Amino acid sequence: MCGIVGYIGHRQAYPVVMKGLQRLEYRGYDSAGVAVYDGESIQLFKTKGKVEDLKNKVESSMNTAGNLGIGHTRWATHGVPNDVNSHPHYSNSGDLVIIHNGIIENYDAIKKELTKRGFTFESDTDTEVLVNLIEDVQINQGLKLGKAVQVALNQTVGAYAIAVFDKKKPNEIVVARLGSPLAIGIGEGEFFIASDASPFIEYTTNALYLEDGEMAIVRLDKKIKVFSIKDDALITAPYIQELKLNLEQIEKGGYEHFMLKEIYEQPQAIRDTFRGRMRVKEGIIKMAGVDDHIDKFINAKRLVILACGTSWHAGLVAEYIIEELVRIPVEVEYASEFRYRNPVIEKGDIVIAISQSGETADTMAAMKLAKEQGAFVFGVCNVVGSSISREAHAGAYTHAGPEIGVASTKAFTTQITVLTLLGLKIAKAKGKISTSDFHMHLEELNLVPQKVEEALQSNEQAKKIAEVYKDAANFLYLGRGFNFPVALEGALKLKEISYIHAEGYPAAEMKHGPIALIDEQMPVVVIATRRGHYDKIVSNIQEIKSRKGKIIGIVTKGDVTVRDLADYVIEVPEIMDSMSPLLTTIPLQLLSYHIAVMLNKNVDQPRNLAKSVTVE
Ligand code: F6R
Repeated sequence: MCGIVGYIGHRQAYPVVMKGLQRLEYRGYDSAGVAVYDGESIQLFKTKGKVEDLKNKVESSMNTAGNLGIGHTRWATHGVPNDVNSHPHYSNSGDLVIIHNGIIENYDAIKKELTKRGFTFESDTDTEVLVNLIEDVQINQGLKLGKAVQVALNQTVGAYAIAVFDKKKPNEIVVARLGSPLAIGIGEGEFFIASDASPFIEYTTNALYLEDGEMAIVRLDKKIKVFSIKDDALITAPYIQELKLNLEQIEKGGYEHFMLKEIYEQPQAIRDTFRGRMRVKEGIIKMAGVDDHIDKFINAKRLVILACGTSWHAGLVAEYIIEELVRIPVEVEYASEFRYRNPVIEKGDIVIAISQSGETADTMAAMKLAKEQGAFVFGVCNVVGSSISREAHAGAYTHAGPEIGVASTKAFTTQITVLTLLGLKIAKAKGKISTSDFHMHLEELNLVPQKVEEALQSNEQAKKIAEVYKDAANFLYLGRGFNFPVALEGALKLKEISYIHAEGYPAAEMKHGPIALIDEQMPVVVIATRRGHYDKIVSNIQEIKSRKGKIIGIVTKGDVTVRDLADYVIEVPEIMDSMSPLLTTIPLQLLSYHIAVMLNKNVDQPRNLAKSVTVE
């Protein structure tokens, strides 16, 4: 969590940093700050609130001129969100200034030690401790900034992406990374530092992503020097890559919110997920990350899926799909639980780590644990070059394009798409699916983008239903089979952006508890598509109706039975049951979106959340 940005070069740093912070606000947005070196002194301003609040305050109170600057948008870990705890943080001398994403776990012990030596602290943060530790090392050991940072970091335990500069040497920024992402954009006589490439994409497409355990000295008059934090070893040829991202992809493109834009991008995002992989006429699925290790997939005894949040829901859908197609057991684990128990990983297990951001700390740690225990790890990520994608032995990108809205939408459907391709591919390689059935699946899958477009036509109906139920205190979401995880996902979407309490349940489980909640105040969203246990779910709807619950049915086009029973229905096109989550999820995204908008909530940046959860 937290977004960091830095600039050093020939431009004015302030506008670059501020625009960058706005792009990174998805990472955290409870406070923000900026520091600019104006040629003589450091101008620093920070405040509780969003980047927009910072901008309004800075421009009336601080000189923003200068060619060196850093900025931060925060998701609080140590210390409440307030002005003092916001970054950047000064060292005691006022010479060093730092921004940090991550957690220094042993900060308390270091703080006590520094306090004994006369250091004082204004904030409750671990970051202020770190900058003073660097200063302590610098002064006591007479070291240059880069070396002092390296020595200090070796005394810490935790995770970080940091950028720090020294007023006495304003031609360089020192950066380091362990467990939190950090990219360096390399322009003509200028450098950009950021948590991801979005802040610098209009200036340069050349990017260097630091690896875990690396640090760099970014100096105007020299080439970037990258070296190991642990032992100072120089990385002789750091990999500078050419980015494919473009500016349009990270702007709202006429939509009121990123979330709505991303909901509407799903047909194209799914097409992009297919691109180069699915050859319908030839009956081929090409996935390099699978083809290169096909024996492992053929011989796998079990798949273990690790993920969090929405990605975990996609994993649950994949469990149903892969077990059906491949006939091997699939287990779906919350990464945060997996890593803290004593999980059993056996020879022949394949672990699949799913993560939109590719940076989720728990997913990363869980996959590392599985790797240590000998598992082959396959990553399914959206963000190209992200930590999880690099840590995995092999993988497949979802190619959904940047997802900025904090509530995940197109990430979910493209993850399911990749995992469906994976399931089909393994089933084919293992001879578990006939050629005709395989072709049939490919043809059906190929129609999904067009059917998602049709499902998006439910927008007006979703809006109408939102108007009726927006003031409900609770919602229940029910589904069975492939659509049980969609019920979980629908409930998650509603609670995270509208703050209405919502529960997702397997429909048949309702009578083991949640049915007690049902009364005339309770909207119940039931996914009741024709091919999925339809009769059973109709019985569940009857049970809700007899208890006066309000029924919102997500049904297959042309359905009459549920229409007669429900208060409202939203239709989605007919599709093979295993692919129905790709359609049924669309009206649920739209419903929560409209409810949140009607309740005046901040749809793209819901309270307390962040897009990239890089803390445990
Ligand atoms: C929900 C949401 C979160 C993420 C979760 C995992 O809309 O966005 O639940 O799905 O934090 O994030 P990734 O997929 O980046 O690992």
